[in-house]
Amino acid sequence: MRLQRYLALCGVASRRSAETIIADGRVTVNGEVVTGMGTKVGSRDVVCVDGKPVRPERNKIYIMINKPAGVLSSASDDRGRQCVVDLVEGVHERLYPVGRLDYDTSGLLLLTNDGEFTQMLTHPSFEIWKTYEALVKGEPNEGNVRRFAEGIMLDDGPALPALLTVVGHKGSNAIAEVRIREGRNRQVRRMLEAIHHPVLKLRRTGFGTLELDPELKPGAWRYLRPEEVNMLLSAATGASKGSTEK
Ligand code: URA
Repeated sequence: MRLQRYLALCGVASRRSAETIIADGRVTVNGEVVTGMGTKVGSRDVVCVDGKPVRPERNKIYIMINKPAGVLSSASDDRGRQCVVDLVEGVHERLYPVGRLDYDTSGLLLLTNDGEFTQMLTHPSFEIWKTYEALVKGEPNEGNVRRFAEGIMLDDGPALPALLTVVGHKGSNAIAEVRIREGRNRQVRRMLEAIHHPVLKLRRTGFGTLELDPELKPGAWRYLRPEEVNMLLSAATGASKGSTEK
């Protein structure tokens, strides 16, 4: 099979990120650095990433964690900051986050060693809906809601139509539910900034068909049930595409 697919099966990264890892010269096959994408590997080849041998994962793990603010959602940090995978004790497989949440965002994050699952759920073409609860400065009005529905212009291009609903108040500020189907860098914060209601606090409450388990306190996690994994995969393969339903 192609090297990038092999690396995804090893849980090293999604197929797309595997291409970057290969291009960066971090992968060897039988001791030789390989940077070409066409390379084919089989079960007898010894594939290493950063000098460490990797093998396809047989035991697939899917976890939902309530990421606390102030924790990185990456698998490791060269500056020694706490990473979300450090919060998962007793699991020996290498886990990777499915997409990212900002350092200062809390809430629902998926962790897995299944690179193909990650690839499906994060690929922009699958347009998985993500739901956020944002404490924002001031109160968005109907015009703001319309702008979200039409697609807010951001500095890296227009956002896809999104949903904005004011669901509560906290003093002079509002609690807004935001639903988007992209995963651009700091997207919700930038969209709310664009309508002059900057985010004071942000929490992800939903990912596709999945809602953040209310039993999970910040930092706590649980395995996904098989039907939850299947529901996510069927949402990714089309059930939710093109609609505002989860
Ligand atoms: N949008 C943001 O602005 N931040 C996140 O962490 C996720 C979505």
